[in-house]
Amino acid sequence: MSDSIILGIESSCDDTSAAIIKGNCILSNIAANQAVHKEYGGVVPELASRAHQQNIIPVVEKSITKANIQQNAISAIGFTRGPGLLGSLLVGTSFAKSLAMSLDVPLIEVNHLQAHILAHFIDDANPMPPKFPFLCLTVSGGHTMIVLVKDYFDMEIIGKTTDDAAGEAFDKIGKIFDLDYPAGPIIDKLAKEGNPDAFTFNKPKLENYDYSFSGIKTSVLYFIQKEVKKNPDFIKENLNDLCASVQKSIIEILMNKLEKAAKELDIKEVAIAGGVSANSALRQAMQDNHEKLGWNIYIPKFEYTTDNAAMIAMVAQLKFERGEFTDLRTTATAKYDL
Ligand code: KG4
Ligand code: ZN
Repeated sequence: MSDSIILGIESSCDDTSAAIIKGNCILSNIAANQAVHKEYGGVVPELASRAHQQNIIPVVEKSITKANIQQNAISAIGFTRGPGLLGSLLVGTSFAKSLAMSLDVPLIEVNHLQAHILAHFIDDANPMPPKFPFLCLTVSGGHTMIVLVKDYFDMEIIGKTTDDAAGEAFDKIGKIFDLDYPAGPIIDKLAKEGNPDAFTFNKPKLENYDYSFSGIKTSVLYFIQKEVKKNPDFIKENLNDLCASVQKSIIEILMNKLEKAAKELDIKEVAIAGGVSANSALRQAMQDNHEKLGWNIYIPKFEYTTDNAAMIAMVAQLKFERGEFTDLRTTATAKYDL
């Protein structure tokens, strides 16, 4: 890999992030989270794009200072073109375009989902990068899919959710429990003190490698409504057990299809990516399959799981080597296939 220095910019949802990569080593990875969404229980698109506008200059400046480089050392600018919230993407896209123009360096568009997967090739993401072909369970607030990764830019979605994403299920069920947004990490923490077998919830019965998470959400909602009628403090008194049981169900749903795919395609290289890959029960389930099924597992370092610009810079570096540049007339796109 070349030693070029590239700036990556991510603004697809509610994190404004900038990172500097040299070769595949991250020199800096800065993010500004947007606390403004908490009180609304979810991301408010208009507020997100306004916060990106406020954050983007200080975040990019900080990434350059932290990397200890001069602006003129940057060989290209990578940016998330999609998928994501259009208003948010536009802030990063416009900024990347103007900076590329003023520094007179190439502009490189990055697909956010490819970036979650290719984050595995950052030098300190894993002790060893995955070998092609590998399976990557990509699980975030907006996406849940099993991807067959044949090469860096040759990926096939073999299964995906037919309704909610796994992260969305964590967040929506968290809302039923009156937890803050995003509830995924909170459920993970509370589950540590709970009994995962205390309650059972409905599991989807879908063919092939597809997922569904709306059923478990409804099952939890009806169960809670019924119990709260009998005991108004039911949630408070059982919160740890509820979180542990919900987490167990979601992780079992995710792992069952991943195991089926690994078995049927005879692949033992298995990775996880995206915000939900930070989940401790999912990480443990992967570890168990390494021991039980002989999987070579790839679990990215925590900071490369939720949205970050390091993964954007990584993809930009791979595209830079291939001479794949983007025209300055480009614009953001809310939908962007793998
Ligand atoms: O990849 P990401 O940062 O943003 C999207 O592209 O969606 O993923 C965010 C999602 C949220 O739904 C959040 O609740 C979930 O990832 N998440 C977790 C954990 N950490 C983040 N879900 C379960 N357990 C966690 N530890
Ligand atoms: Zn993401």
